[in-house]
Amino acid sequence: MSPSNFDEKFLHECFRLAKLGETQAFPNPIVGTVIVHNNLILGKGFHRKSGEAHAEVNAIQDAIARNPSNYEKLLSESDIYVSLEPCNHHGKTPPCIDLIKKYKFKRLIFSTRDPNPDLNSAREASYKELLKNGTEIIGPKKISQETKIESDYLNRVFFHKLESELPWINIKIASYADGSMITKVSDQWITNSNSRKEVHRLRSVNDLLITGINTVKMDNPSLNVRYSKVELKLNDIKNPDLLILKKTQDFSEKERRKLNIFTEAENRTINELKVSKLKPKSPGDKVILEDNLFNSLQEYLKKYPRIILEAGPKLTSSFIKEGLFNEITHYISLKGIDYNNHRLVQNIKASILDQHKVLRGNESLQIIKEEFIPTNNISDNLDLKITVADKTEQ
Ligand SMILES: NC(=O)c1ccc[n+]([C@@H]2O[C@H](COP(=O)([O-])OP(=O)(O)OC[C@H]3O[C@@H](n4cnc5c(N)ncnc54)[C@H](OP(=O)(O)O)[C@@H]3O)[C@@H](O)[C@H]2O)c1
Repeated sequence: MSPSNFDEKFLHECFRLAKLGETQAFPNPIVGTVIVHNNLILGKGFHRKSGEAHAEVNAIQDAIARNPSNYEKLLSESDIYVSLEPCNHHGKTPPCIDLIKKYKFKRLIFSTRDPNPDLNSAREASYKELLKNGTEIIGPKKISQETKIESDYLNRVFFHKLESELPWINIKIASYADGSMITKVSDQWITNSNSRKEVHRLRSVNDLLITGINTVKMDNPSLNVRYSKVELKLNDIKNPDLLILKKTQDFSEKERRKLNIFTEAENRTINELKVSKLKPKSPGDKVILEDNLFNSLQEYLKKYPRIILEAGPKLTSSFIKEGLFNEITHYISLKGIDYNNHRLVQNIKASILDQHKVLRGNESLQIIKEEFIPTNNISDNLDLKITVADKTEQ
């Protein structure tokens, strides 16, 4: 393995660690760090929670704890890998770049530049000092494009928040290969158990979950996070707030066309979400339906930086048509499909993407990420997961 392959491998370990902070780090970015001595990991860390120590500090402390007698020498012979450019300013914690200077690392390798404007003024000066100190700096330009994209993608919500006061909306869809979202066999899931586990993880890293009244009536879903912390590989788990979209029938003829009611389940229990328990939370939850969903909802949604939509085809289509999303996470069941047939799988992807494009009327929608979700169960199906987004917004 060439040295650059090692660099990529350790950066991927940083990405894995960064994701452990997904529930609590926000509104800070998620970051992972590894310290490597002669190709062996000396210390690891991630940013656990906003206001707490940064990933670099945790990794250095880990390395010190494991090597209390000779850590100074070892650190000065080590490389430090970080998934995001180390901070050089005083926030809630001191600048990480000072620690990197202090321990005289051999190399600093990071895969994403921090666009935070607070970093700009001191960037050049602190890198000059680091170089003078004998630390080589390897930034995103020297990393493979693939790894850089993966690294940037980790903090897409954080970057979006720096530029916009609107939330990041992720539409989750589970469908068969033909795009149908309704289960063909009652009480059977469309997607496999690993995909469903992932959806719980997605819920856990969102602040608000939106669904429609028909989904609640037909499925009586719990819409909470049920897998354990360990299984989800999360540092903490949290249920998102819940918003159920329902068109009202209770108003005068004139108002009926104007009003939507947003209801939230009171006393949401772990296993049940009873329609009878649904009621408007406050007068503020009645929103005048303007020309489109976006205009009606935007003030309400601004309260929630990260939103996931898990609805049926009607509401999902409305969100896509109106461009009320930043990404679509689409799980496609390959039940009964020869997934070794490359051309067939390509056709399925293309047809699903076309369906989104037709709805959105936007040619710039693209698949920005794809992977297979394997199954542990022989009778279950392999799923294909694609992430669709407007490339121009990435
Ligand atoms: N595969 C999946 O990922 C998935 C996920 C969730 C649910 N499902 C399935 O989907 C089925 C239910 O689908 P569905 O689409 O009927 O239910 P839904 O998700 O509950 O959405 C329909 C509700 O949204 C409202 N709505 C739609 N567009 C709107 C707009 N522009 N403004 C305001 N309100 C709007 C509808 O009002 P109107 O009826 O008045 O238009 C209706 O009350 C169930 O069988 C469930 O199992 C599948």
